[in-house]
Amino acid sequence: MKAVVTTGNGGFDTLEYRNVPIPTLAPGEVLLQVLAAGVNNTEINTRIGWYSSIVTAGTEDAAYTEEKKATEKIDGGWNEETPFPFIQGTDCCGRIVAVAPGGDESTIGQRVLVRSCMRRSGFESMESVWMGSDFDGAFAQFVKVPAGEIFPVDCDWSDAELGTIPCAYGTAENMVQRAKVCGGVHVLAAGASGGVGSAVVQLVKRRGATVTAIAGKAKMEQVRSIGADRVIERGNDIVDSIGENSVDVVIDNVAGPAFGNMLKVLKRGGLYVSSGAIAGPLVTLDMRTFYLKDLTLIGCTAWDEPVFPNLIAYIERGELRPIVAKTFPLERIADAQCEFLEKKHFGNFVLIPPPLDDPDAYP
Ligand SMILES: NC(=O)c1ccc[n+]([C@@H]2O[C@H](COP(=O)([O-])OP(=O)(O)OC[C@H]3O[C@@H](n4cnc5c(N)ncnc54)[C@H](OP(=O)(O)O)[C@@H]3O)[C@@H](O)[C@H]2O)c1
Repeated sequence: MKAVVTTGNGGFDTLEYRNVPIPTLAPGEVLLQVLAAGVNNTEINTRIGWYSSIVTAGTEDAAYTEEKKATEKIDGGWNEETPFPFIQGTDCCGRIVAVAPGGDESTIGQRVLVRSCMRRSGFESMESVWMGSDFDGAFAQFVKVPAGEIFPVDCDWSDAELGTIPCAYGTAENMVQRAKVCGGVHVLAAGASGGVGSAVVQLVKRRGATVTAIAGKAKMEQVRSIGADRVIERGNDIVDSIGENSVDVVIDNVAGPAFGNMLKVLKRGGLYVSSGAIAGPLVTLDMRTFYLKDLTLIGCTAWDEPVFPNLIAYIERGELRPIVAKTFPLERIADAQCEFLEKKHFGNFVLIPPPLDDPDAYP
């Protein structure tokens, strides 16, 4: 099969589009033909080793530095050491083409989404592994996954539209759920034009809460069109714009220099929720703001049990709107990531693997 193999920490030249063997199934696994695979920051972060403690810059600056001078980083993966060379790709919309012996063959042919955050130790433990970060993912014509991590989805969305969902919407719904967002709650959402942020806006609104969003000037109208009650231009002082002690929940995957003000705009007892730091992982925390206002900081990475089944139900009930900014053929992954890093887009980028030479070859 064709796949993009990431050979190690480094620039775009570590993304090799080549022939590799089709995965062999172990008991309990299924083989999917990948129909569409979303593009996420995590694939760039893993390639450039951004999760390493020696990296202090945001993703864009760190990617630029890595392009100029690549450095191997033993702790550059989100979890344990990254298993280079391997196939990245966290988002998969696929079609079941084979099941391991003893599996349910009646599922062959179904279109499914993969729950890419897998809680192998059970939902009581915060241990998780991620497809495309800890083991081979969807930047290929085929991927194998545990049968328990696939979710059939019955809707009229295109493959590319479904390919935008798992990482961005799973992460967003996990944060919205952990913050117990419901009617009457006012949420401030940063990075609202991005994959996670645009999902947060929609998922907060579907729970009947109010959302104030932050977005770049060129994308403010689009963020309004997906339901934001108010949109503030990125770069404006958020305290001047909405006032201290004005929101119940901040959902912030941007972080960086704006972090301190995010705590100031929280009401007493408010929740700051994050699963990312695209503008910079090192922030200044004024401990007085934190404890004098009885704030709670909630870190989110491992998806809770209801998150993915709920998302599938929202899609099937027509409660979400996918936002495909652009699609690229899989072999143009470097062009896709390069444009993705510019952040001129609204929503998500999706890679489409080449069609199979012989569609009847599987199963
Ligand atoms: N922990 C997890 O499991 C998990 C899962 C998914 C994502 N994440 C992380 O969450 C973050 C956001 O992900 P995403 O998929 O939503 O990203 P994205 O699609 O690239 O969107 C991020 C948005 O943040 C805004 N932004 C503000 N300051 C920025 C800066 N200095 N550099 C770049 N963008 C900036 C941009 O919007 P404007 O131009 O409109 O301001 C951009 O569109 C990333 O760091 C990602 O790695 C973590």
